[in-house]
Amino acid sequence: MYELAVFGNPIGHSLSPSIHAQFAQQTGLKVNYAKILAPIDGFNQSVQQFIEKGANGFNVTVPFKLDAFNLATELTLNAKMAGAVNTIKIQKNKLIGENTDGLGLVNDLTQNLGLSLKGKKILILGAGGATQGIILPLLRQQPSQIMVANRTASKAEKLAHNFSQYGSVSGFGLDKIKSEPVDLIINATSASLDGNMPEIASGCADNAICYDLMYGKQTPFMDWAKNNNASIISDGLGMLVEQAASSFEFWTEKKPDTRSVIKKLRG
Ligand code: ATR
Repeated sequence: MYELAVFGNPIGHSLSPSIHAQFAQQTGLKVNYAKILAPIDGFNQSVQQFIEKGANGFNVTVPFKLDAFNLATELTLNAKMAGAVNTIKIQKNKLIGENTDGLGLVNDLTQNLGLSLKGKKILILGAGGATQGIILPLLRQQPSQIMVANRTASKAEKLAHNFSQYGSVSGFGLDKIKSEPVDLIINATSASLDGNMPEIASGCADNAICYDLMYGKQTPFMDWAKNNNASIISDGLGMLVEQAASSFEFWTEKKPDTRSVIKKLRG
């Protein structure tokens, strides 16, 4: 039996238990996947209690990804560069921290949407934690360049600099986005949460793939993409399922089938 869980606050609406139950059924593995509401200042203690019950691993969501990063005794390169951990595997007294968010995005783009990112121009809106988590996995697909545009230009510049040893990444303000088409635009700002879409040069979306990391509703970014001639528009539901699959594989070494799960979630 794999004893797994997701820690968050709030955690009530998490889809992870249902996704992992479907993975368990497909792979024939026995999995107990719980939802654990940790107190805001009590993440480490909650984890400790779970470990004492014989846990094999866990996921971490808002607002504990940095706590998990600090708690891990070992980090994958991916997690190190992301500066955040969403998956921990427990091996004896080691806590191995991974971040599957970026892998999830790449797998959704390449496997479910059938895109190749090699040689492509990618524009990312936003330079917060979400962006930091996806840059390295995107660079591993060998795009020609990644441009990070952010409301606060200095944050985008700093982020781009931190990843420069891994590929061509530049950072600048949203106002410096050119009205020239790119291949893929990823919305990694939290603006959609407030029903906003930053004002940017619209020509960049012409015939582009537009992907919002958010899921669950049509976002202002997706409306903007539609109004500006995007070729493919997607929310982040596929990424959610793919990051869960990458976590499941990290714990169990079994690769689940994600398409049937995505289909079911889309209803
Ligand atoms: P997350 O972990 O979701 O990335 P975050 O680290 O708080 O959250 O980052 C939020 C990102 O959304 C930032 O890039 C932020 O821009 P600033 O760095 O300038 O704050 C961006 N963001 C949030 N609201 C925005 C808005 N209304 N317009 C443009 N960008 C916005």
